[in-house]
Amino acid sequence: MIAIVYATIDGQSQKVAEFIKEEVGVTGEVVELVSIETIDERLLNMANKIIVIASIRYGKFSKKVYRFVEDYRPALTEKKADFIGINLIARSPEKQQIATNVYVRKFLEKVTWQPVNVEIVAGALRYTKYKWFDKTMIKLIMKLTDGPTDTSVDTEFTDWSQISDYVQSKIIS
Ligand SMILES: Cc1cc2nc3c(=O)[nH]c(=O)nc-3n(C[C@H](O)[C@H](O)[C@H](O)COP(=O)(O)O)c2cc1C
Repeated sequence: MIAIVYATIDGQSQKVAEFIKEEVGVTGEVVELVSIETIDERLLNMANKIIVIASIRYGKFSKKVYRFVEDYRPALTEKKADFIGINLIARSPEKQQIATNVYVRKFLEKVTWQPVNVEIVAGALRYTKYKWFDKTMIKLIMKLTDGPTDTSVDTEFTDWSQISDYVQSKIIS
């Protein structure tokens, strides 16, 4: 059984977790999804592989992600856990490496856990769902980084073929 622990605010990390569940599911392997808000220790103990998925908010992963990976480091190490970091700068393929993605690089420098595989995946820009402050800030960030600035349009940058490749090469091979 594979346990996927996800930390999401707007749902994209959960969507990635569900996509992996679907992809792996065709092999008959069981995949259980668990939110970081409701960690099920028994489930983690039962898993033979763990995948942690988390997204970036204003340059940082949530404190809950840091706490989780420190609290459960022995289990994550034993289960050869992987990490998938989601953010918008990864919409540029050259920002999908640890060395070039500042958020994931800093996260891995700070935590004592060392994931076996690390995937850096582009998230979604959901202007129509953001409150005024977030919408304004993200529009500014997009302006500075040559991203979309029309706040009436949502864009999903997630490259599902990248996640498929990860599943094929690292999970079910
Ligand atoms: C308030 C807010 C702040 C964000 N800050 C950043 C950021 O600093 N850098 C970045 O690359 N992406 C940033 N993002 C993009 C998110 O990482 C992206 O939307 C991701 O899909 C969110 O995943 P989730 O729905 O699982 O929370 C931000 C998004 C929001 C809503």
